[in-house]
Parts: sequence; structure tokens; C-alpha cells
Amino acid sequence: MFTSFELKNVIFPNRIVMPPMCMYSATEDGYVTDWHRVHYGTRAVGGVGLIIVEATAVEKRGRLSNNCLGIWDDGHVQGLSELVRLGKEHGSVMGIQIAHGGRKAWGDELVAPSSIPFPEMGTPHALTAAEIKSVIENWRQGARRAREAGFDVLQLHGAHGYLIHEFLSPLSNRRTDEYGGSLENRMRFLLEIIEAVKKEWPADKPLSVRLSAEDYLEGGLTIKDTVQICRVLKEHGADLMDISSGGLLPASIKLGPGYQVPLAEAVKKEVGIPTIAVGLITKPEQVQEILLNGRADFVALGRELLRNPYWVLAAKPDRELWPWQYHRGIPAN
Ligand SMILES: Cc1cc2nc3c(=O)[nH]c(=O)nc-3n(C[C@H](O)[C@H](O)[C@H](O)COP(=O)(O)O)c2cc1C
Repeated sequence: MFTSFELKNVIFPNRIVMPPMCMYSATEDGYVTDWHRVHYGTRAVGGVGLIIVEATAVEKRGRLSNNCLGIWDDGHVQGLSELVRLGKEHGSVMGIQIAHGGRKAWGDELVAPSSIPFPEMGTPHALTAAEIKSVIENWRQGARRAREAGFDVLQLHGAHGYLIHEFLSPLSNRRTDEYGGSLENRMRFLLEIIEAVKKEWPADKPLSVRLSAEDYLEGGLTIKDTVQICRVLKEHGADLMDISSGGLLPASIKLGPGYQVPLAEAVKKEVGIPTIAVGLITKPEQVQEILLNGRADFVALGRELLRNPYWVLAAKPDRELWPWQYHRGIPAN
């Protein structure tokens, strides 16, 4: 886990990732606050290789909560660039997840491929073809602002039942135009976002996509579909797949340590693309097993890094890794 990894022009110092996690702590206009500075800065001091800043909305109506970070306005760049500076200063590679909540967004203006509501939420407006183009343009502008803020990894949120996932899954996409029907059509929205984003995102920096590899529902997305999707994403220039699952609709999921690892492993092996494994991974032995068996290239620790921002330092009590200010705290075995 302490072996570096090179992807395009970016060198990751180790294989530990902090996955995107909403902090619900932005101002109502989506601006960075001290909470974010402390929270992300601490994980960088803690030696995390790649920090992916939480779901950051490309449109105001796409926020997942009233206090989600935003990237829909040029004014957001300054605060985000401070997070990049803080993270880089302490040795982390800084990434950001850009997102649109679609029918699961916060507020009254819900949009989706079809007007099928998420249980107990409002009925979304089915985007017209012209509206789809304008949403895609907003993803492009989000990518431009992420570049201007100085991030080194851009991640598109295509998981957990949000807008991109809603297009991908046949359970939420019942369109009869070129954006619905076959898998090829359901992927069109994501592919058009990728093409738009590539006009802004530097070719020498990694582009990541997070997907829900399984809907765990009859008639929903399966790992077989996901492998096919990832093949096409790779052809279109995706560099790093972050493999999660679920979230489209309530489903029964067998949770357990590393339960999503086989999904990341299938993508890595069948598509030949670097992957991040995530989900109930908490122990160094688990991380080593995943990496040494070539099941994924990176391992993300979500809630574990909320509990312990110094998890990486604890895994290697070594003067080279630890910030000099903390050397007197290195355990003497
Ligand atoms: C507080 C919290 C906020 C989250 N927010 C996001 C998010 O913004 N984007 C996302 O893709 N996943 C989000 N997730 C999911 C995590 O990135 C991760 O996939 C999940 O927690 C499973 O990993 P873990 O078992 O290591 O925590 C969130 C999870 C938590 C606990």
C-alpha cells in the first residue's frame, strides 16, 4: 500500500484513497468553509495518497443537500483552490467528485431521464433533449472550474442513484429517444458528458468515473453491464474506475467486509483499467490482500478515515512518512 502509482502525469504517493464523502457543511451558496479546510487538511497531514473532495454540484438544483459544495459558479473556484493548496502542501494528490443529484437531489426542482420518482420523493421532470444539452454544458463548466482550482484528478459521480446512474439503469430510464432503451443509448448521456469534460480537463491528468456496479434488483444494472460500460468508458478516455454499488432504489444487499471488492476486481481484470475498491475496508491486512492479489490498484477507506484521520500514519510508524512535527509521537514499537 506504500508503493507509488503513476497515472498520466500524476504520481500517487501510496494506494490509500479518501473517497468522496459529503460533509453538509458548505454555505447555502455552496462555498467552502473552515470545516472543509480542517477536514481535508487533516487527512493530508495523515498521509492519505489521494483525497477525493465530496460530491460537488455542477448545478444548484443538483445538490444532494442544502449545504453541499458547489462548482456551478466561477466564485466557487477560490475556496476549492484553497483545499487543493492545503492538500498538496502536505503531500496528497487532490481530486474532486463533480455531481448532479437528479431525482435524488435536494429541493423542489428534480430532474431525471424519466418522470419516475425515487420512493417518497417528489416526481422529477423528465429532461428534454435540449435540457440534456444544457445539463451537459454545466458538467463541462464544472470540469473547467475543477481545472482552474488546480485539482489533479476529476471524478464524475455516476453512482448511487444520482443523475448519471439514473440514465444508465433501465429501472429509472424509460426514455424512447436516443438516451433510452439499449445500453448503448442509456450510456449516451455519460459519454456526452465525458466528451464535454475532456474539452476542459487536461489530457495529462486522470479522469475517474464512479459507478454503481450493481443495482441488486431484478431488471437493474449488473456487473456484466458495468464491465461493458467500463470498456466503452476506457475507449472514451476514462483512466480510473471507482467501483461502488447500489443506491438506485432500496434493495437488499449482503454487507460484509470488502463486499464490493469482487466488483472492482471484475472491472480491473476484464477491462484492464485501473480501479479503486471501496466498501467496509478497515484493516491494513485487508488492504494488502486486495493490492497484492491484484484485485484493485487503490483502496478507499471512507468511514474508517472519519474515525481515524491518521490511519495511514498508524499503518507505518516511520520518520519518512510522518510529518516532522509529529516525529515525537511515533510509537517506539
Ligand atoms: C458521510 C458520508 C458521505 C458520503 N458522501 C458521498 C459522496 O459525496 N459521493 C460518493 O460517491 N459517495 C459518498 N459516500 C460513500 C463513500 O464514498 C463510500 O463509498 C462508502 O462510505 C463505503 O465505504 P466505507 O465502508 O469505507 O465507508 C458517503 C459516505 C459517507 C459515510
